[in-house]
Amino acid sequence: MAGLIPQSFIDDLLNRSDIVEVVSSRIQLKKAGKNYTACCPFHKEKTPSFSVSPDKQFYYCFGCGAGGNALGFIMDHDSLDFPQAVEDLAKRAGMEVPREEGGPGRKPRQPVDSPLYPLLEAAAEYYRQALKSHPARKAAVEYLKSRGLSGVIARDFSLGFAPPGWDNLIKHLGGDSLQHKAMLDAGLLIENSETGRSYDRFRDRVMFPIRDSRGRIIAFGGRVLGDDKPKYLNSPETPVFHKGQELYGLYEARKANRDLDEIMVVEGYMDVIALAQQGLRNAVATLGTATSDEHLKRLFRVVPSVLFCFDGDAAGRKAAWRALESTLPNLQDGKRARFLFLPEGEDPDSLVRREGTDAFLARIQQQAQPLADYFFQQLSEEADPRSLEGKAHLATLAAPLIEKIPGANLRALMRQRLSEITGLQGDALQQMSVAAPAAAPHFDDNAYYDTSTGQEEDAWYAPPEAPQPKRSGQKEWKKDWKKPGQRPDFKARAPRTPTSVEPPALTTLRTLLHHPELAQKVEDASNFAAEDDTYAQLLVALLGTLQKNPKLRSLQLIARWHGTDQGRLLRALAEKEWLISADNLEQQFFDTISTLATRQRERSLEKLLRKARQGELSAEEKDQLRNLLNRNATPATGST
Ligand code: GTP
Ligand code: MN
Repeated sequence: MAGLIPQSFIDDLLNRSDIVEVVSSRIQLKKAGKNYTACCPFHKEKTPSFSVSPDKQFYYCFGCGAGGNALGFIMDHDSLDFPQAVEDLAKRAGMEVPREEGGPGRKPRQPVDSPLYPLLEAAAEYYRQALKSHPARKAAVEYLKSRGLSGVIARDFSLGFAPPGWDNLIKHLGGDSLQHKAMLDAGLLIENSETGRSYDRFRDRVMFPIRDSRGRIIAFGGRVLGDDKPKYLNSPETPVFHKGQELYGLYEARKANRDLDEIMVVEGYMDVIALAQQGLRNAVATLGTATSDEHLKRLFRVVPSVLFCFDGDAAGRKAAWRALESTLPNLQDGKRARFLFLPEGEDPDSLVRREGTDAFLARIQQQAQPLADYFFQQLSEEADPRSLEGKAHLATLAAPLIEKIPGANLRALMRQRLSEITGLQGDALQQMSVAAPAAAPHFDDNAYYDTSTGQEEDAWYAPPEAPQPKRSGQKEWKKDWKKPGQRPDFKARAPRTPTSVEPPALTTLRTLLHHPELAQKVEDASNFAAEDDTYAQLLVALLGTLQKNPKLRSLQLIARWHGTDQGRLLRALAEKEWLISADNLEQQFFDTISTLATRQRERSLEKLLRKARQGELSAEEKDQLRNLLNRNATPATGST
């Protein structure tokens, strides 16, 4: 197993890399003063709020709050984990990644140097060659042809053939006991626990290599050539393969087109490949598991829109609802999901081959339902909103689910739609979202897929994800729907004064972050932070920094505290929705500073008076006291 990457190497690597180069190799940057800007690659936007600072070697998006150094950018943009990102950056810099002996604690989730990768690659190569030249290849080639696949597609998806027999791969790759052990670890072999003998897992099957986001082969799916059972065999979970997170075809889809707008999620390997064969190279499939939260996170990192394409039968509808549940907590504003149900008895493979690409695209165009439509339609089937009881039930089902949506705009619109359907208004619905557990609508309880897959395989159907913890969205819900009878209108939201909600120093920090130029108008920033008021302390530090460096912009300001608790706080503040209207913002800023300064003076005064009662004050302290007594609540600023 690979050890830890030494911190010194990471520092060195970052020193030798240039974030501008790293980012601009992936997105188009525009120079703006000392920094570079672009439309943020992590959320959809029309005006650029994404900024890269060459000075600070740091990027930050004022729209979505994404931010970090070159490694963070690579991780988020390319969907890599930390060690992978280090590898990537090191390659670019022509450096070799050293490894320390793995101590306790941090262990990379996917060992970068795992010997399993070359082994899996070698196995794939063997299967590929077998499809080309093994004496028994004919049946496999015929089978693929019968499914309408061309050699080009077979090549693009690296399809292969595991010939019949118990030890083809063992013979081909076999070697010492270490190699044997690695093959077991990689899931290529199966060990009979009684005899201790091992044999090839995949025999007489068409082989579908499964790649990770970097294109490395991490596992296989193998399909029988006929109607035998189990139809598919998948690699088991291994150190490099976590079935519930991977999407078959994602690497291939991105390779075919780096600028995808939408990815289609289908159910099967063959669907992905048949669609590609018809020129639709944007399909991915889960590996026989329900669509998970992790799947959605991955998808939304690379596209703003996901189209779920499922069978119209009970199993497909159930799968779609699961997918919807995994989608809700990932729906930032700007992300969307659509649902297309196919006629009973069809899957994307059969349909696209029968009706052709154009008709299939037209079908998507006409029939794909936006998530919200599907959501309310499905729930209305469950709870008929024509009766009062149905309305009540519908609201009970819908309210907690809507609360999971992180995108404030979409969430508000969904609430509005719910209240249109049920006639229920804010307060009543809010109680429901608190009281009711997020219940799934009832589906026919037959399993998503037939689970009788033979004894060789573990249960391959992953159980649904544990319910998401409740988001903190309830407070906002309350704010939006404060008065009964008043619909939330996200566009025309009245300016709110958040002073009662958060400490004034925090509000002021936020103002300063958005308007660093205000710092120049603060006369005396030195003495208003109470010792135990971390926000005020940070505010003073920020003011001091800005007064010394009047040209600093917010991004650079945040970058100065990068990696610290304060930095995280600043980032979170910059991320948060901005709620004070522009005209009373300055007022509020100076009011708070005055208040803080006054309070601090009172505290100092008290302290000095206490000390005076107990004993002698030094000359300096006496001066201080005189000063304080004279300065009766003088504003701390010159502007108002
Ligand atoms: P074809 O039947 O060849 O068209 O394959 P398909 O890819 O369309 O498969 P299907 O729609 O029947 O199933 C969808 C997915 O579920 C498959 O791609 C597999 O990932 C998984 N699956 C189906 N059957 C089995 C099975 O018997 N065992 C395992 N492990 N997975 C299966
Ligand atoms: Mn199929």
